Amino acid sequence: MYLQLFKMTAVTLIVFLLVMTNYAESANILYVIPFSAMSHYIFLKSIGLELAHRGHNVTVITTFMEKNPPPNYRQISVVNKNMWELIGEGAEAPNIFDLVDLSPEEFQSKIHWPGGVAFTDLVLSSPEVVEFLKKDNQFDLVICEQFFQEALYTLSVKYNAPLAIISTFGNCMRHNLVTRNPLQLATVVGEYLSVNNPRSFSGRLRNFYFTVYEYFWWRYWYLDKQEQLVPKYFPELVGKTPSLYDLQKDASIMLINSHFSYDTPFALLPNIVEIGGAHLSRSNTSLPEDLQKLLDESKHGVVYVSFGSNVRSADLPEEKKKAFLNVFKKLKQTVVWKWEEDILEGKPNNLVIRKWFPQKEILAHPNIKVFIAHGGLIGMQETIFNGVPVVGIPIYSDQHNNLVLAEEAGFGKLLQYHDITEKNLDKALHDVLNNDSYMKKAKELQKIWKDRPMSPLDTAMFWLEYVIRNKGAEYIKNPARNMNWFAYNMVDVYAFILAILTIVIALIVKVISTITIFLFGDQVKTTTKKKRS
Ligand SMILES: *[C@@H]1O[C@H](CO)[C@@H](O)[C@H](O)[C@H]1NC(C)=O
Repeated sequence: MYLQLFKMTAVTLIVFLLVMTNYAESANILYVIPFSAMSHYIFLKSIGLELAHRGHNVTVITTFMEKNPPPNYRQISVVNKNMWELIGEGAEAPNIFDLVDLSPEEFQSKIHWPGGVAFTDLVLSSPEVVEFLKKDNQFDLVICEQFFQEALYTLSVKYNAPLAIISTFGNCMRHNLVTRNPLQLATVVGEYLSVNNPRSFSGRLRNFYFTVYEYFWWRYWYLDKQEQLVPKYFPELVGKTPSLYDLQKDASIMLINSHFSYDTPFALLPNIVEIGGAHLSRSNTSLPEDLQKLLDESKHGVVYVSFGSNVRSADLPEEKKKAFLNVFKKLKQTVVWKWEEDILEGKPNNLVIRKWFPQKEILAHPNIKVFIAHGGLIGMQETIFNGVPVVGIPIYSDQHNNLVLAEEAGFGKLLQYHDITEKNLDKALHDVLNNDSYMKKAKELQKIWKDRPMSPLDTAMFWLEYVIRNKGAEYIKNPARNMNWFAYNMVDVYAFILAILTIVIALIVKVISTITIFLFGDQVKTTTKKKRS
């Protein structure tokens, strides 16, 4: 009788434990990555899909839809509009090559900030999202992309779950300021700033100015606009949710898309983790047959040209287009160019155009000799991963910095957009094609880029699951984030020491002068008198 009862209790206990462990291992995760740029999605989707492959119940808010997702990967779709349609008159996208002439400050104030607010509004008003938010869901973790969509951090409050932030960029100056990660302005450049020589006096001055400009406008003007979306879409949370600034400050973890082998090495808090190139960890797809054949048969090698998913080569001004064609037609190599229209007038025979190429797989082909690129981070990581040298023409955002790093590392050459002429292009391309050092450096970097204790995708998985396991890992957060600025910068301590020093020096001076007068007072007076008379 007692034995029976004992057995039953034991069985119940074991079943209960199994259910509990299972529950702990497979979490409900909300993954918020709606931004409508393909390059962002390529990086971000690898994380969401991997979480699903590991058995988590993943709900994704996204613009791009996976065709055959696993059953535990649910997609909530956002109305598909890009930032260009949302800013300005909602008319046509601007010619992206015109963005070359915007200063980083203008890029923030004219594109990222207004575009970000309009885009966040679009996400929260998308019918599927509205429907989803009405349901009674529960999540163990909310992961948000950090790209000018701060109002979405409120979802972590709605579901009472820890917040993880993920960036398709590397270092984020604003996040450093918010969480009190050391700024390291002498070596670490703001992610959207272009400087040629970051460590020179003018480079550091420029970096300082941009960082201050960006932070103040972001915090005191832009974030206010995001804040206004919170009562509009989460009326039930009014008065119950911290400010968006505080939500970002208290995020459990931030995953950033960099690695010190290529990006500038810098000090990071334990909850800012580098996962540079996570989208390449599980990439093993092969080339379509026709492309495989074309590349195999290109015995003199191949030049691959693409300005990424956002920038259309077909929008190049006529004279620049001609410069490219004149250079390409003199090459013995095959040229493969992502060209977004059906025809390209004056196309030489060694040039193959298509509207889209499987870039990762092309760059992996051993016959690729050089990648002519715009320096976007995802493409740069793909080229490093495959050890291919670069000729880069930056257009906007972090592209210039990425190419400065490539030049420093010796596997790339930077050509300014306004300097594109037949002569300059020819020179840059021939330099990289004929000078072995570029390929050698590319192969060296490829090796050290991959030399890590864990693949970047596994690293991302570890830290996201870590945050779930440890219920937000409160203890990992920097205590300095809650101090006021003068205490954090030790201003009060320095002021105190300065005051003590001043008092001590004043006292010493006083004592010395008193002693002097006491000992030699009469003499001093007599000497002065003598001199006067
Ligand atoms: C998975 O998440 C969805 C929300 O998208 C929810 O409806 C469903 O109940 C969850 N499944 C499990 C097994 O928790």
